[in-house]
Amino acid sequence: MKKIVMLCCTFLLMGKAIAQEVPLVSNIAARNNITLNGKWSYIVDPLENGYYDYRLMPFKNNGFFENKKWNTTDLTEYNFATSATMDIPSDWNSKDERLFFYEGTVWFQKDFNYKKDTKTKGILHFGAVNYDAKVYVNGKLAGTHVGGYTPFNFDVTNLLVDGNNFVVVKVDNKRHKDNVPTVNMDWWNYGGITRDVTLAQVPNTYVEDYLVQLDKKEKGKISGWIKLNDETANQSVSVSIPELKIKKSVTTDAKGMAYFEIKSNPVLWTPEKPKLYEVTISKADENIVDQIGFRTIETKGKEILLNGKKVFLRGISIHEEAPFRSGRGWSEDDAITLLNWAKELGCNYVRLAHYPHNENMVRQAEKMGIMIWSEVPVYWTISWTNPDTYANAERQLHDMIYRDKNRCGIVIWSIANETPHSDERDIFLSKLAKYARTQDNTRLISMAMEVTKSPNNVNTLHDNMNEFVDIVSFNQYLGWYRGTNESCKDMQWVIPYNKPVIISEFGGEALQGLHGDKKERWNEEYQEELYIQNTQMFNRIEGLAGVSPWILVDFRSPRRQLPNIQDFFNRKGLISDQGIKKKAFYVMKNWYAQKEKEYK
Ligand code: GCU
Repeated sequence: MKKIVMLCCTFLLMGKAIAQEVPLVSNIAARNNITLNGKWSYIVDPLENGYYDYRLMPFKNNGFFENKKWNTTDLTEYNFATSATMDIPSDWNSKDERLFFYEGTVWFQKDFNYKKDTKTKGILHFGAVNYDAKVYVNGKLAGTHVGGYTPFNFDVTNLLVDGNNFVVVKVDNKRHKDNVPTVNMDWWNYGGITRDVTLAQVPNTYVEDYLVQLDKKEKGKISGWIKLNDETANQSVSVSIPELKIKKSVTTDAKGMAYFEIKSNPVLWTPEKPKLYEVTISKADENIVDQIGFRTIETKGKEILLNGKKVFLRGISIHEEAPFRSGRGWSEDDAITLLNWAKELGCNYVRLAHYPHNENMVRQAEKMGIMIWSEVPVYWTISWTNPDTYANAERQLHDMIYRDKNRCGIVIWSIANETPHSDERDIFLSKLAKYARTQDNTRLISMAMEVTKSPNNVNTLHDNMNEFVDIVSFNQYLGWYRGTNESCKDMQWVIPYNKPVIISEFGGEALQGLHGDKKERWNEEYQEELYIQNTQMFNRIEGLAGVSPWILVDFRSPRRQLPNIQDFFNRKGLISDQGIKKKAFYVMKNWYAQKEKEYK
């Protein structure tokens, strides 16, 4: 794997690295760790008063990161100890009604105990923070990170003390044109520490990362590698899979890498039988247990082959919106609820839009036999010519693949959604697609394109990016943004590429419980008719290999203002934000039942 040049901000004190961002410690939950989830104090700071002085110069001292104890003599105009608290992980928008629309800085602070010793390092790991994070431990900067949906971690060993410690995080979710995503999107910009926070205590030389998968070239072989955090050679490391009677020991090379190849014929993972094996990666002072499935995914002409067998992706698109309570979803329970609804619909596949979802979602889908399309938020009008924007997109793509490379449930990496055609966009995305293949040559690459309208009811997909993807996917909204439900009847589709086709989005809005004539928008009967007409049209698309309707559940969006109908919800869900199924749900369920029979 090409090592990404990490913007490791190494903070030096007397020439000694006191803290730095380090490559992600894989499978952090399986390490010796303490959770920092729970109550955090927070201070809303719209003018970033805790970071800049009155001349807009960053504080060296006296910033909120010092967590100074308020008293009646010093001039300290903040106090975490008497501030409100918030349950973390969460988004502030749904936790504090004053912050529903807030975009800016909120400071978070938490005290914790830690037992230091000379044989271990402390790695502070965040599942995600949206969007711009500055992390301080005991008043000193541990590191910074941008990107709202991918994990990151810092080696904070030299900042930790034995006993009482505290962590402060400055979170800023302001949108900027050159960010990824850019300023315009159709989902809520939930700000905060939105996923698990973990402090892992690992050996000074630890297993940083590992890969265990079916060998891409040779059948009947499991291969992979184990990587240490430093270039310690001649370390004995091992991979064991008891159920396959595998216990393979290997030795690290001068780069701290150890490779293995093992003859084995594991039971392959399928949606019908999602077999996962317990895999343990060991070193003298470490045991890391994972659950790993084995499968192949490839294309052949217009077919997608799972384990060599043609498959139809019976999908649904899902935003990371918490069921029932709305707000940013993050927990195992949230994942199980959403994925059970997808299973009820008859899905063997989900499109996790438009950003990498939390690890619970990926691991639960794998356990439930659901394949996944995982996507970076290169969405709509990105700053195609800004090199920093490209570096940000590439870093997010790297971290998405890095985190989930052992997750057999993920079959597609998506590099974009609905991006306007231009030479600059093609240069940006083709580079990103090529980069994705350097990180993982075992999964399929796609992106959600836009179909090109053309006269006399013939729609032709034309996108220069077709040569850089394995699957040509596109969003189309006949019956909602274009034409009527009737328009579907004589609509033709021309996809001039010998690759599988996925319709990555279609749908229309309905307020659950609103009923009326099927020709009137916003009621359930209109949405039901839209699904009837669209699915009948899909039966006529040659090479259609999958569909992921937009969307499983109504979700919050600042673009959806229609009073008493949208009220800042996008109502394209087949299920309401209160978990009530709409009539269209059953149209899609029936269509999938037919599809399942066709592909038995
Ligand atoms: C677009 C876009 C989605 C959006 C949807 C809609 O296709 O990809 O993010 O929510 O349409 O307009 O509802």
